[in-house]
Amino acid sequence: MKILVIGGGGREHALVWKLGQSPGVSRIFCAPGNAGTLEHGENIPIAANDLPALAHFARENRIELTVVGPDDPLAAGIVDLFEEEGLRVFGPSQSAARLESSKIFAKELMRESKIPTARGAAFSKCEAAFAFVEEARFPLVVKADGLALGKGVIIAHDPAEAKAAIDSMMNERRFGDAGRRLLIEECLTGTECSLHALVDGKSFRLLATARDHKRAHDGDTGPNTGGMGAFSPADNFSAESEAQFERQVMGPLLDALKENQVTFRGLLFPGLMMTAEGPRVLEFNCRFGDPETQVILPRLKSDLLELLQTTIDGKLESTAIEWEKRAAVTVVLASGGYPDKYDVGKRIEGLENLAKAKDVHVFHAGTRKVDGAVVTAGGRVLAVTALGENVAAARARAYEAVAQISFEGCHYRRDIALGAVAAKVVGH
Ligand code: AMP
Ligand code: GLY
Repeated sequence: MKILVIGGGGREHALVWKLGQSPGVSRIFCAPGNAGTLEHGENIPIAANDLPALAHFARENRIELTVVGPDDPLAAGIVDLFEEEGLRVFGPSQSAARLESSKIFAKELMRESKIPTARGAAFSKCEAAFAFVEEARFPLVVKADGLALGKGVIIAHDPAEAKAAIDSMMNERRFGDAGRRLLIEECLTGTECSLHALVDGKSFRLLATARDHKRAHDGDTGPNTGGMGAFSPADNFSAESEAQFERQVMGPLLDALKENQVTFRGLLFPGLMMTAEGPRVLEFNCRFGDPETQVILPRLKSDLLELLQTTIDGKLESTAIEWEKRAAVTVVLASGGYPDKYDVGKRIEGLENLAKAKDVHVFHAGTRKVDGAVVTAGGRVLAVTALGENVAAARARAYEAVAQISFEGCHYRRDIALGAVAAKVVGH
């Protein structure tokens, strides 16, 4: 089977790598891909948001399944377009992807179906938002309604901070149209957990749990990033949390979607805050997480292609998914300056030594091959994943591998999974 993976980050390298192991896959293309995806397939120089060019490529090359990595093409309706053209594609339709592309839509749906989440209010006028924060209790969270590369969320500690956030989103349009409307919500406390579920329109199957590290620097300091590292399984999600999550979130969500005549087929990734009162939904993502995918897929024993096909065909109900008992940790190596301005084109050394390292997978994100050398081409450059008997062992192995790689300006967090080293592996 000929497969096309859309995107060019660490998540897509992990998807291409895992799909490449499926006996049913004959050829893999990745658009636009990176120097890592090149090792398993062919890169196609088409941007992930150039929908007509992607559909044209899929048609001309008789692609039998397209897997969409990032959120933008989903929000722009790539799945609807492919389906109209009779092309098979994994991902939710544009209307289902609104769960991620409009935080206000998601909040409304959660409120209607009593899914536990932070209390919030939506605003389309700056003056009303200003008036609200004058009277509000702090801290509170100001969120742009639309997609903002994971940066459209600001925690404000007083009215002045809140107003500055509102002003930058609504008036200065720091995130473009994504900030036309805002959500202002209560600030929850607890630890975060990333859940991934395959959803086939009717049923769902949870994948392994993971935890991300969103802040740029050690000790959860510095600005928010796309994610500086992750580990799986999460140490804060018990069997009881799982039962609660299925009952309080997944069940009501699927019912609400059905009521709204929206069919969700694809990967749903709810970001949770584990509070003293139980799991609360922070957001819904409609695609695999990055860097969560880089720790989830190395633990997946089942055939990924089969799982994606089963999801599209609506047959998840009778499907079992097998997992490695071992844990996985990934450490993201970033360009100097990321998440702000950074340079690209720095030569990366040390990758060859790791190509054969046992239980180590170096997933490429912002990389490019130039004259046979691998150079940096983005903010997040590599996600170095290792497996181990427990989180501590995986962590030690991941950092040993990281120590062998270098490029000018490289920075990474030294405390990925540190808080979880004592965690027991419980299998999910
Ligand atoms: P989101 O894009 O909604 O997941 O927000 C990005 C990050 O902002 C989350 O991963 C949390 O770290 C933080 N966040 C979002 N909403 C809240 C909230 N209501 N309370 C506390 N932190 C939040
Ligand atoms: N790592 C968080 C995300 O993919 O949204």
